[in-house]
Amino acid sequence: MSTTITHTMPAWLNDRYGSATGTRRETVPTPEPRRGEVLLRIRATALNAADVRLMLGDPLLLRLMFGLRRPKQPIRGNDVAGTIVAVGETVDASRIGEEVVVELDSGGGLAPYAVARVDRLVTRPGALTPEVAATLPISGGTAFQALDAAGVSSGQRVLVIGASGGVGTFAVQLAALRGAEVWATCGEPNRALVESLGATRTFDYRTTDLSTLPSNFDAIIEIAGSRPLRQLKRLLAPTGVVAMVGGEGGRLLGPIPRILRGLLLSIGSRRSIRMVAAVAKREINEQLVELTIAGRIAPVIERTLPWDAAVDGLARLESGHTVGKVVVRGRE
Ligand SMILES: NC(=O)c1ccc[n+]([C@@H]2O[C@H](COP(=O)([O-])OP(=O)(O)OC[C@H]3O[C@@H](n4cnc5c(N)ncnc54)[C@H](OP(=O)(O)O)[C@@H]3O)[C@@H](O)[C@H]2O)c1
Repeated sequence: MSTTITHTMPAWLNDRYGSATGTRRETVPTPEPRRGEVLLRIRATALNAADVRLMLGDPLLLRLMFGLRRPKQPIRGNDVAGTIVAVGETVDASRIGEEVVVELDSGGGLAPYAVARVDRLVTRPGALTPEVAATLPISGGTAFQALDAAGVSSGQRVLVIGASGGVGTFAVQLAALRGAEVWATCGEPNRALVESLGATRTFDYRTTDLSTLPSNFDAIIEIAGSRPLRQLKRLLAPTGVVAMVGGEGGRLLGPIPRILRGLLLSIGSRRSIRMVAAVAKREINEQLVELTIAGRIAPVIERTLPWDAAVDGLARLESGHTVGKVVVRGRE
């Protein structure tokens, strides 16, 4: 590791499961890049619903993987833009100084330095700010993979449920870009925004009975809803697909019972309900960077906070009412 990098660093820690108010600033060892990894100086970190789920340890099932009593990785933040400042074994040292955007493996973004896998890195062109770049991997990547799972293409009619959040604002734009006719549900105050992103019809989810909509959607991208899956299936055209991204779940198992119900409802039916388990894909992130640079999509950022206000960002995500993305700038 380069000698100019300090051996310890301040970081925002969620070392116990619980609400954002339990986030503490602590001094921790600066991570060291291992084989196939780089060390990044973080320029910006975008927060996601997954950061909140891990912070809360909710659903409980999640704790089996991420730490039974406390999070194994206590630093939240997966989506980052940063500068390569050191490299691990097998990584070309000439990459030091490169500006990149990447989805981290298991958090670490709310700190001045974090390690990232070299095979995931996407170059960040100078025309793309770190704050905008950091919004792309999880929300943009999930929206992209959900549209793929549902086979969304030109001329189709698509319903996006939960269109105003991080994933939804990308899903609307990317579906419109594919030439689909986009209908969307969101809160009343966000209808104008969602229409400006490319939705032709929008509905307030608090007052609209979805069963009054026509039953001819080629795809439903279910991001934030809690509507019965049978009802969503009835809204599909004969070979339509519901792509389940998020939605409500119980404290113990989260969305798993709903996913199983979706599988059961798809058996023997031409209308199917598919679960989306988005994974970090470099080639998709490269496309998202290109689309953003070309002005074909415009990530929606609700607020950009200084590093010192990271807890406010986590609290905002925890409220469940984010419009687009919340981004935390890297520590000066
Ligand atoms: N499957 C995967 O691989 C994957 C990947 C990423 C995310 N996810 C999941 O996807 C979900 C959404 O993530 P996100 O980042 O978009 O969350 P988010 O940014 O926190 O979403 C908040 C937005 O959702 C809206 N909303 C809440 N309930 C709604 C409802 N019933 N109908 C319509 N809109 C509603 C809110 O509007 P109001 O303020 O008006 O209430 C708010 O604008 C989460 O459950 C997350 O865990 C899954």
